[in-house]
Amino acid sequence: MVIDDDVILNADGLFHIYESKAEDGNVVALRGIHVSIKEGEAVAVVGPSGSGKSTLLKCLGGLMKPSAGNVSLSGKRMTRLTGQELVNLRQKTISFIFQDSNLLPHMNALDNVAQPLRHQGILPKVARLKAQNLLNKLGVGERSKGLPEQLSGGEQQRVAIARALITDPKLILADEPTGALDPITSREVLELFSSLNEEFGVAFLLVTHNREVASFCGRSLELREGRFIAQHGTNVDISDLSETRELLIDDSGTVTLPPDVLLKIGGPGRFEIPVNEKDLIHLERVEEDKVELNSSTKLVLSSTCPACLHDYSDSMIQLCPKCGSTRPMI
Ligand SMILES: Nc1ncnc2c1ncn2[C@@H]1O[C@H](COP(=O)(O)OP(=O)(O)OP(=O)(O)O)[C@@H](O)[C@H]1O
Ligand SMILES: [Mg+2]
Repeated sequence: MVIDDDVILNADGLFHIYESKAEDGNVVALRGIHVSIKEGEAVAVVGPSGSGKSTLLKCLGGLMKPSAGNVSLSGKRMTRLTGQELVNLRQKTISFIFQDSNLLPHMNALDNVAQPLRHQGILPKVARLKAQNLLNKLGVGERSKGLPEQLSGGEQQRVAIARALITDPKLILADEPTGALDPITSREVLELFSSLNEEFGVAFLLVTHNREVASFCGRSLELREGRFIAQHGTNVDISDLSETRELLIDDSGTVTLPPDVLLKIGGPGRFEIPVNEKDLIHLERVEEDKVELNSSTKLVLSSTCPACLHDYSDSMIQLCPKCGSTRPMI
């Protein structure tokens, strides 16, 4: 496959299975993901809880080896690198911001932030100065001597963001980066991300439930049960994903319909394809053969949002007004 020069991260056919000996067996978390991120691009990944967002981020960042598929970073196949080679490539290019801050508990905030530079052999004094500047920029400069346990959740997350920025990464992979922050800090962090993106061309892949985060990104990919089912354009308002939705069909020909589209075509069943033209599929339901779903298997719209637990009450809307996740059928 030919990959453009300006592609910073490329993944092909990613599958990930969490193996388990438990009764409920293995979990297939990713089912054939393809994704390409260009230098300086900002892409959001949205989708309900358990759809595979964190698994995807870990596989893309080389923190976890996918069960199958390839990931290339700056044109180099990460899935073929081992140990130190992988660490070196990652350190030069990517930073992570996790759902929880993942700070080292025995180090104060300043040392946590400076730590990645120490690994690169930079003088401690220089690393500390840069760390302090970043902490100041993120509004936690005066907490630099605090241990993680002495900081609030929001302060810890800001320290983690400073640590991610200190290596001047080309790509930031962030899992719900503003989840633990209050709305004002959250907006400040977004403004910082936005300026890093616009002024310094830092690329972002952000997992989010937050509509402001998603709208800062050039495009959003909607993940469901380990597959990308749709893509959305610029300034997506994730409270109504269906407005900008483009459906995605992967290389294996699999198309997974978002629940609201499935509902619109009358639910699951058997379909015939009478005409078959390029870029056009006409589906015709085979009514006489319609599989009657008995009451125990009848699908209904879920009453709560699996992602943010929003209560839909009697409403028939198919996208969560709070977090924008698609409403599942259960
Ligand atoms: N370590 C693990 N062992 C077994 N199964 C796992 C493990 N981690 C995740 N899973 C399962 O894999 C699937 C995808 O999980 P993942 O954490 O990637 O979802 P997510 O989209 O990040 O969810 P959330 O929005 O709640 O963070 C889920 O079914 C989850 O239960
Ligand atoms: Mg997650």
